[in-house]
Order: sequence, then structure tokens, then C-alpha cells
Amino acid sequence: MRTLLIVSGGDAPGINAALYRFAELAQRHGDEIVGAVGGVAGAVDGHLIDLRPDMLAPVKALGGSFLASSREPVLGNPLNRVRLIETISRQRIDRIIVFGGDGSLQHIPPILQEMGLACVGLPTTIDNDVPGTEETIGFDSACNTAHQVIDGLMATARALPGRVFSVETLGGHTGFLALEIAYTCGADAVIIPEFDYDAQWLADRLKQVAHERRAALLILSEGAAGSRTIVEDMQDKFDLRIRDTRLGHGQRGVSPTFRDRALAVRMVDTAFAALHDNIEVGTVVVQNGQVNLCEMLITNFVPRKPDAQLYAAINGLD
Ligand code: F6P
Repeated sequence: MRTLLIVSGGDAPGINAALYRFAELAQRHGDEIVGAVGGVAGAVDGHLIDLRPDMLAPVKALGGSFLASSREPVLGNPLNRVRLIETISRQRIDRIIVFGGDGSLQHIPPILQEMGLACVGLPTTIDNDVPGTEETIGFDSACNTAHQVIDGLMATARALPGRVFSVETLGGHTGFLALEIAYTCGADAVIIPEFDYDAQWLADRLKQVAHERRAALLILSEGAAGSRTIVEDMQDKFDLRIRDTRLGHGQRGVSPTFRDRALAVRMVDTAFAALHDNIEVGTVVVQNGQVNLCEMLITNFVPRKPDAQLYAAINGLD
């Protein structure tokens, strides 16, 4: 069996561990694994490389992706679909595995299925917003990085009382990442794109907490409308001593935690078994804490929504 691995969209900590596991399993079972260099666009251009465990071993514990990714929606163009089919037959590919977040898995596997290509999706994104799965590869590492930064911020925050610390997380247009970080760090307020908030209420809450408990912590999701403006408003309009940190892509490119490595290994083992069971279409998901293969595309799952009760509890609105 010859399998093509494609990494699409934003990289996530744990992708290299997953690539390594695939190569290792393939070697053990006498399979062949090739990777597209440059995501789907690379596959369309026929830019593939053989993957062996010895080449991936040095990077398996690192963030980023050994296989360059791409966000280009090249399969929208019918000519590119023909070129992909040519690559697949020239390279004798039997199956495709797509690593990606919500955008990539909503878009690519359905087109591959339409083209008659067997494909399994693996959810890899720090955003944890993929429908049908409780967790995605990379989420734990991104939360862990945020915790480390926030621990440092709060130590200095308590040393010089009266200030508000704002931390902006990645997360795209969703707030799952920010919400989980806010809850587990014990933040005093969280603002995410899925819920509206009142600026005066936010300022009053932060002021009160900073006064009563030396410092207040606000977590912002980058996708919250004008997350930059929120900080500026708090500072200028509401006269808060606010110190602002953006975690940015430094939150994404970190080495994977044990949990992400373990998830990567389990998800790859499940995908590999599915390939050998001749599954034509599927997505690897975590359901009730267990890694399973669902024989469907993520487009068939109900979109995920952030927990409104958790949001209310963090913000003292319950
Ligand atoms: O992959 C998801 C994500 O990391 C989001 O959290 C973030 O908004 C986006 O990617 C950043 O994308 P880019 O790397 O293209 O700037």
C-alpha cells in the first residue's frame, strides 16, 4: 500500500510526531508513505517525497511541520483536480491522509471523495474547533504554552498591584482555545467571538477585581471583534492600567506536550488501521475520550459551539 500524507492549513504541535508514527508503522508493515511538499498545492504540482522514520526522528519532538503546508484552495480549479489525479496515478497512490483544521477538513476531503479518491482526515489544529471531535492535535500544547506565559505574567502582576493583564490567544474566528485557557488559568474575564459583551461591564469587572485581588486577568480571543480595540478602549476610555500580551504564532510553533504526542500516536494508529480495512472515507475523532474512526466527513457533523455556561461562569455572569 502506498499512502500520500498532506498537511494543510496552519501547522499544529504534534504533526511531526504523527508523521513519524506513520513512517514507523509503514516500515513495520512493508507499506510506503509519501508526503506532499506544500500541502494540496504541492500534491497538484507532483511535489512528493518518500518519508522514512530516520528522516523524521530528529523532528518528531518539535513544533511546526516537516512537510510544508499551504492554505491555497487549489482544488476549486477543475484543471488542478485533473493534475492531482495525474500525480496520484503516476505515483501509484492508493490512499490519502489529510492533516488539517476545520477549514481544510471541511474543504479538501469532500472534493477528494467526489474525485473518487480514498481519504481519511486527521484533525490537527490548536483551535480545537473541528466538528465531531472533542480534541484536536495541537490544542493541548497551545493551552500549555499560554499557561506558562500567564504564570509569569501573574507573578509580576501581583508584585505591583492595581494592574490588569490582558492576554490575546490565537484561535482564528473561534473561541474554544481562549475559553479553555481562561477557565483553567482562573481568568477574571474572557472575550471570544461567539458572544457579545458590554465594554462598560468589562471595565467595571476588571477594575473591581484588580482592586480587590491586586491584579486582574483578561483573556481575549484574536477573533473577538476588534480585540486590539478592546485593550485600547480599556486603557483610554475606561482608564485602566492594562498591560497587553499577544501570544501570537509563538503559541503555535512550540514542541508538543506529552498529551499531544500521545493523541498523535493514537490517531495515526487508528488512521493506519482504517487504511488496512480499506475504508474509503473517514475522519479520526475523539469521542467520550476515546480515539475512533468515523466513516464520514466532518461536513456531516454538527458544528461545535463554545460552552455558554463556562463563558458565563468565568465572567461572573452566572
Ligand atoms: O491554524 C489555525 C490558526 O493557528 C489560527 O489560530 C490563527 O488565526 C491562524 O491559524 C493563523 O494563520 P496564519 O498562520 O496563516 O497567520
